[in-house]
Amino acid sequence: MFRTRICSLLLFSLALVDFLHLEVRAEAVANSSTATQIYAAGATFPEELYMDAMFAYQFVEPTVTMSYLPTGSGGGKKRITQGDQMKDDGFGPPFNIDFAGSDSLLNAQQYADYPDLQMYPSVAGAVVPIYNIPELEERALDLILTPETVAKIFSGAIKNWNDTTIYNDNVAGGNQAGADVLKKIKSSIIVFVRNEDSGTTEIWKKSLAGASAYFAKQIGTSSKPVWNSTARYEYRDENNGVASGVLATDYAVGYSVLGVALKLKLKSAMILKPGSTTPIRASAAAVEFAVAEMGLDFGNNGDAPERLTANVMNAQGSLAWPMVGYTYLVMRKNTLRKGATCEHRKATVNFWIWFHKSDVARNLARVHGFSPLPEIVQNTVLTRLMADIKCDGVIAYDNNNVKIIDGHTIPVVFTTLGILGNTYIGVDPSVTFNVSCSPAPRD
Ligand SMILES: *[C@@H]1O[C@H](CO)[C@@H](O)[C@H](O)[C@H]1NC(C)=O
Ligand SMILES: *[C@@H]1O[C@H](CO)[C@@H](O)[C@H](O)[C@H]1NC(C)=O
Ligand SMILES: *[C@@H]1O[C@H](CO)[C@@H](O)[C@H](O)[C@H]1NC(C)=O
Ligand SMILES: *[C@@H]1O[C@H](CO)[C@@H](O)[C@H](O)[C@H]1NC(C)=O
Repeated sequence: MFRTRICSLLLFSLALVDFLHLEVRAEAVANSSTATQIYAAGATFPEELYMDAMFAYQFVEPTVTMSYLPTGSGGGKKRITQGDQMKDDGFGPPFNIDFAGSDSLLNAQQYADYPDLQMYPSVAGAVVPIYNIPELEERALDLILTPETVAKIFSGAIKNWNDTTIYNDNVAGGNQAGADVLKKIKSSIIVFVRNEDSGTTEIWKKSLAGASAYFAKQIGTSSKPVWNSTARYEYRDENNGVASGVLATDYAVGYSVLGVALKLKLKSAMILKPGSTTPIRASAAAVEFAVAEMGLDFGNNGDAPERLTANVMNAQGSLAWPMVGYTYLVMRKNTLRKGATCEHRKATVNFWIWFHKSDVARNLARVHGFSPLPEIVQNTVLTRLMADIKCDGVIAYDNNNVKIIDGHTIPVVFTTLGILGNTYIGVDPSVTFNVSCSPAPRD
């Protein structure tokens, strides 16, 4: 009964939802002194999604509070392996963490030194070619590029917007008007790239190298800012830095996580796959097609399949976005971090079950431009997570304590959106916010 009433309020009265939210929040704050504190750190790629999900989770499980320090993948891996034995990387504590976020894989040496480590995919995200061309903007026209052309722009081989290759891509993709506009542009292309070691860069380069033998040979796939030494680039820190640079610079191009492009209302180029005449627009749905095709191919990247890692870029499907990467959580299977108890292990596992299974968290992922794991991948990952993570030799997964979705979580979608300033609504028409009001699936 109560649940049903909440639903109708949600759909028709946002003001009342706010009221409900405040009530729930007061409860969560009141209990925070006895909360189980979960610490995490790592990749900036999923940073905003994780922050929002952790915020939302307070309303699902008020006895658990969580923090995520965006150190980058390397800092996350250092913390989960070395704890407070590590040298401060400038981000400071916490050094002892319950899980790390990472876009890059652990290497053989790390597995040898810490055999207890395990990676689990959390979501897949798109990296997108963002651009700023006033003449296209004024006339609300798209930019269409093949992956090969994107590769040549980022290698420095294509230097001008009036290049015939760019013209031809747009004609082939059905964008004659855009092609005609581009042909008249006299400005050269200003290319923005990341300044620091970056998982986003690695996904971007691996995607381009997979699509272009030229790029693979000339530029390679390093996560470091290694490009064409004779071409000119603008270097910026973090996704936000590159995106802000492109936003502020006419005739610029760059790459960022889809969520950041959406947040800043930046245009991203559509991709025309070889042999196709229908370009693809980046969206959470286009990422989902890629993950549905490749997400279960664990080990297709040369890693041992039981590591649960895979390349999900350059999917063949005509609707699949090509520049896609998994981001992972990294945990120790049997050992606790310093200062933790079995409660911390349980709370961490339960959070991840909620993250994968609840409609709220899955929608939140889509809002940020990520694809939640398709069901078959999700089942494989959660089955492993629940079986792997132990405390004192006993499985930490606590069936009785898993909360997937309840009345409290429903307002959170809207609250979190409120906090984001409604940034995403209306920006990406592929995002829908249908809150499910059916009773929670509890196993
Ligand atoms: C907060 O703690 C009190 C006392 O332990 C408990 O009765 C109440 O249900 C808790 N509130 C929440 C939201 O968990
Ligand atoms: C490197 O950049 C220069 C200058 O833009 C360009 O002429 C050359 O083709 C580029 N090299 C590669 C491998 O793309
Ligand atoms: C294309 O643009 C470059 C400058 O970016 C200019 O030098 C060249 O003349 C242009 N070519 C044509 C055909 O307009
Ligand atoms: C979301 O709700 C709207 C309005 O109730 C409906 O038209 C639409 O089909 C729903 N979308 C999904 C994905 O369920």
